[in-house]
Amino acid sequence: MGTRLGVNIDHVATLRQLRGTPYPSIVEAALSAELGGADQITVHLREDRRHIQDQDVRDLKATLKVALNLEMAVTPEMVRFASKLRPDWVCLVPEKRRELTTEGGLAIEKNRKGVGSAIATLKKKGIQVSCFIEPSLEAVELSHQLGADAVELHTGQYCLAAQGALGARSAARREKEFVRIQKAGLRAHALGMHVHAGHGFDYENVKEVVGLKNPHGTPLFEEYNIGHAIVCRAVFVGLEKAVAEMRSLLSGYLN
Ligand code: PXP
Repeated sequence: MGTRLGVNIDHVATLRQLRGTPYPSIVEAALSAELGGADQITVHLREDRRHIQDQDVRDLKATLKVALNLEMAVTPEMVRFASKLRPDWVCLVPEKRRELTTEGGLAIEKNRKGVGSAIATLKKKGIQVSCFIEPSLEAVELSHQLGADAVELHTGQYCLAAQGALGARSAARREKEFVRIQKAGLRAHALGMHVHAGHGFDYENVKEVVGLKNPHGTPLFEEYNIGHAIVCRAVFVGLEKAVAEMRSLLSGYLN
């Protein structure tokens, strides 16, 4: 099986929540993404419910043909919700109410017990668990120790640098972050974990990362979770085509 594309449709819900309208439909968005070749639908049910709502996740669970990946904070409320709903994957993410988007990876060291017990509870329900972490060896090793099936490396800094968004520091930072991502990904692979990547990817900056290989010569990252850039592209070409374009970018760089 080739590299998987998880399409994050949070920002379709953002458009709906902006006006409190009954549209756009999350289920319709997910179906368009499936038609465009999404291997998975990813949503983040945030504590403040700023975009995705509980019912959206239930509706997706009832209708999706592809896998459902639920991003959520490590809280008793969310662990209860996921245990009941049983998505295919849960991705544990840090969450601050006032942040614009998920800033930084999960602080596992500070909350070893909480993260470990969330992983154990979810796994008992048959849910696969991934930890969204900074691309550091320590965070990879901690995730492994706590029993996570996968790590999703936070590529936000790399992606911003690649977009030139860090000013004069961008080029140097891009190189540094690229090496961090590669090293952390290789460590996770060596530990036998599934290796995912996400945050900040667009149709340009994803290319170099897709070219990374593991020691077997196959793609280092098995899965990408990409949202904002795809929903933005959909404004011009429609969601199905926007997903298909990203899908072919991932496949096109497989060899
Ligand atoms: N992966 C995780 C864990 C995230 O929190 C997000 C943002 O919700 C994404 C992937 C997708 O990031 P983007 O919208 O920048 O593609």
